[in-house]
Amino acid sequence: MKNHPTSEAESREKIRTFIHADSNTACAELAAEVADLIRTRQKENKSAVLGLATGSTPVPFYKELIRLHQEENLSFANVVTFNLDEYYGLSPEHRESYHRFMRDQLFDHIDIPDENVHIPTGTVPADEVFGSCRQYEEAIEMAGGIDIQVLGIGRTGHIGFNEPGSTRDSRTRRITLDPVTRQDAAGDFLGEENVPRFAITMGVGTILSARRVVLMAWGENKAAVLARTVEGPVTDSVPASFLQEHADATFLIDEAASKELTRIKTPWLVGAVEWEPLRTRGAVIWLAGTLKEPILKLVDRGYNENGMSELLTEQGPAYNLNIRIFNEIQHTISGWPGGKPNADDTHRPERAAPFPKRVLIFSPEPHDAIASMAGTVNRLCEQGHEVLLINQTSGSLRVPDTEAIRFCHALLETASDQETNWTGQIAYAKGIIERLQAKGFNDIDPPEVRRLKALLLRGEALDAAAVCKLPPTCIRFLDLPFYDKGRYRRFELTDADVTLVRQVLEEVKPHQVYATGNLADPSTMQSLCFRTLSQALSNLKGASWLKDCRLWMYRGKEIPVQVAEIAMAVPMSPDQANLKNHSIHQFQSITETESNAVNQNREIAAQYDRLGMAEYEAIEAFERETISDL
Ligand code: GLP
Repeated sequence: MKNHPTSEAESREKIRTFIHADSNTACAELAAEVADLIRTRQKENKSAVLGLATGSTPVPFYKELIRLHQEENLSFANVVTFNLDEYYGLSPEHRESYHRFMRDQLFDHIDIPDENVHIPTGTVPADEVFGSCRQYEEAIEMAGGIDIQVLGIGRTGHIGFNEPGSTRDSRTRRITLDPVTRQDAAGDFLGEENVPRFAITMGVGTILSARRVVLMAWGENKAAVLARTVEGPVTDSVPASFLQEHADATFLIDEAASKELTRIKTPWLVGAVEWEPLRTRGAVIWLAGTLKEPILKLVDRGYNENGMSELLTEQGPAYNLNIRIFNEIQHTISGWPGGKPNADDTHRPERAAPFPKRVLIFSPEPHDAIASMAGTVNRLCEQGHEVLLINQTSGSLRVPDTEAIRFCHALLETASDQETNWTGQIAYAKGIIERLQAKGFNDIDPPEVRRLKALLLRGEALDAAAVCKLPPTCIRFLDLPFYDKGRYRRFELTDADVTLVRQVLEEVKPHQVYATGNLADPSTMQSLCFRTLSQALSNLKGASWLKDCRLWMYRGKEIPVQVAEIAMAVPMSPDQANLKNHSIHQFQSITETESNAVNQNREIAAQYDRLGMAEYEAIEAFERETISDL
């Protein structure tokens, strides 16, 4: 892995970066390297010292280590581990502590001796933190230093919990978490207000002292920070960039996380490329953005000066190329997401026939489809299509306790206002309040409470859909079992989840499917929900209706779609933008990204406008996936 030759395409990358098809293949490669080290050291009667990370990123790596232990007799008896960090204030038993995480994800499943495991302690009194951090550093030294340090990366560019501002020479210490990091952990702690403010972390200097460092990153949300880390300057505002100064650092990433690297995003700047249609479109849009010119005003010189002279020779002159790409983008715009009946559809994103279409919209949590495509839902309904909105999970984990308590109080008030006897309802409301009071800070909800939260969210989902003119009969709550059995970052799909999705597909035989999550980090709900769909669709391969079915992808929590990737752009009038906002606000528990969704749609419209297209108030955008490729 270390001696892979660098190509011209990678010339801007200052850290060796390997792009894998998915996280599993990357993790298998790293696990094989670690297993080699462990076995070599076993033969020498020495220990292997590993630096370990938490978060979703290393989970498939730990799964592979467990498999190697169980199926290939890999023993961890000679392994010593040092974890990067721990939340300050959390006891090792706390369900979100990194102690607990490591036991659940790895240590409980392998034969590592307890005394070989080291994780910073989160409960050291404030005046003892300094000494305890120094001891941690000494323990690493006593063990002979770290052989391989495994890392993830936070959206702030943190490694461990070394937030922006951490210096190159920093050592193990207590730090204050960045607001972005606390937002990212909000799901784990059932609300940002519950996320600890401090953590103990190994320093950047501690990490750089490891003999080898391997950083992993999956999903599109990491793409921007990854490109800054690999290609940008070394700076303490992106602490991971200090890894450029390490003699043996390697990054293992998946395709979604690689999207902002120059060799992927603008490969013509780092060598010759094949000018296939989608790349050409992307390049012209990029050029227009870079030169701040609408497409039809681009000239030969602009192409030549920006690494696109071959494109010009092949497909130019500029004017011809401009017109062609302008038309292509123009043809993505359609106010008829289900196709325009009885119209020429040669240049429309969706076919005119059949009409009406059977449309299935998959929403991982009830919020997702509304935040991403409420305007399109509204159009599909008003244009007479048979729409069925499938809420794949209940979303109950997002509902705060206060919402359940408010409901119970309202129920108790209503009961006291009745002449008839509401003893059942009173007992129910009191029972829920008692359970919530008995629940410890940050504990998981008992099933009855979780169910109530799910039902409260159902009410909000029905209201949100009604704003888009979608009646309750067109909404289904699938309550996929993986969600109700699990919690964030620990979900496990089973066949039962895929079967439920397959049954809906078989029942409806849709002409159009809308979904999300294909580019998300594999541990997220959105990604898991997409996998239930992609597996169900591949199980159904060969079904005759599938040949007439198109799959449209919307973006939810991932970074917004780029214009070059848009296959269908559905414009919204100012009234529709208001309607969408109104629909989103039917949900009590909305995130910042969701409440900003319409502004995101306005930004896409502004980008179309800057390219020289018509100026719309807002645009909802979709990519197209080929079902047979899934
Ligand atoms: C966490 C951890 C890091 C981890 C990062 C990314 O807060 N302290 O060690 O690499 O954030 O987390 P994830 O892998 O879940 O994206």
